[in-house]
Amino acid sequence: MRVRLLGTAAGGGVPQWNCACAACDRAREAGAVRTQDCVAISGDRRSWYLLNASPDLRAQLAAAPELAPGPGPRQTPVRGVLLCTAELDHTLGLLALREAETVTVYGTAAVLDALSGPFPVRGVLGAYTSLAWTPVAVGEPFELAGGLTVTAVPVGAKRPRYAAGAPSTGDWVVAYRISDRRTGGVLVYAPCLPALGGPFHAATAGARAVVVDGTFLYDDEMARATGAGRTATEMGHLPVSASLRDLTRTGARVLYTHLNNTNPLCAATAPERETLAAYGAEVAEDGQTLTL
Ligand code: MLT
Ligand code: MN
Ligand code: ZN
Repeated sequence: MRVRLLGTAAGGGVPQWNCACAACDRAREAGAVRTQDCVAISGDRRSWYLLNASPDLRAQLAAAPELAPGPGPRQTPVRGVLLCTAELDHTLGLLALREAETVTVYGTAAVLDALSGPFPVRGVLGAYTSLAWTPVAVGEPFELAGGLTVTAVPVGAKRPRYAAGAPSTGDWVVAYRISDRRTGGVLVYAPCLPALGGPFHAATAGARAVVVDGTFLYDDEMARATGAGRTATEMGHLPVSASLRDLTRTGARVLYTHLNNTNPLCAATAPERETLAAYGAEVAEDGQTLTL
C-alpha cells in the first residue's frame, strides 16, 4: 500500500489566514505551511482513494504526482473519498471534485445524512457530477479497487457545529483500518480520536502505521495559547500528551496529524519534538509518503 499525506493540519491550516498569534506568525515567516488534513492511499498505484476531502484539495491534488490525470484526457486515478467525519475541514473539498465524471463518497449514515441535509453537498455536487453515495457500516469490512480492505472503526459521536440539530446518536466520527491484501500492510487513520481503547484499540492490533490525532499536544493548549477556550478532550481530540505512551506501545509507526496551529509540534525545531522522538513517534508532514 502506498500512502501519501496530502495535508497534516487541523481546520484552518497553519498558518491560519486570519490569525496573528506567535505560532502562526512564525509559520508565516518560515514558510512552514501545513494544509488541512487529507490522505491518499492506493494498493496498486493505479486506483487511489482519498481519506477526507480537505478545503485545500485542489492544491493538494496538483502537488501529488501520483494523482495526476491521464492517460485519457479526463481520466483520474482518484476512485473515491472515504470520510471520517462530516466536519467542514473534511468535506469542503468534495465540492472541488465537481469536474469529475463520477464521485464516489463513502461515509457512515450520520455523515452522509449531514451532507444531504444541514450541509447539502449531495444536492449541490449532484448537479455537476454523477454521485455514488456509499453508506459504510462500522465493523463491516469492504473492498476497494487495487486490493485494499477497509473497516470503519467507531470512535466518537461529536456532531459538526452546523449539524447541532441532527440526531446526537450515530457514528459521527470514525477511524479507518485499511489493509493491503497483497502485502499484509495495515494503516490505521484516525485524525479525530476522542479516546483510546475499545474498538480503536482492537483496530491497532497488527497495524504497521497509525496516522492519528495530533490536533493538540496538551489538553489545556487552547487556554495556554489564547487565555480561554475548551480543553482538547472537550473538543473531541485526545491530546498527544495523553496518547503517546499507549500508541507507541502498539508497535506500529505512529505519526501525528491534523495539527492545530496552537500545537508547538508544528515547528520543525520545537523542543517538544524530542519527547516524541524518545517514544519513537513522529510528526506527520505534508507530502510525506509511506509504503506499507
Ligand atoms: C474538529 O476537528 O474538531 C473540527 O474540524 C472542528 C472545526 O474546525 O469545526
Ligand atoms: Mn478537524
Ligand atoms: Zn494562530
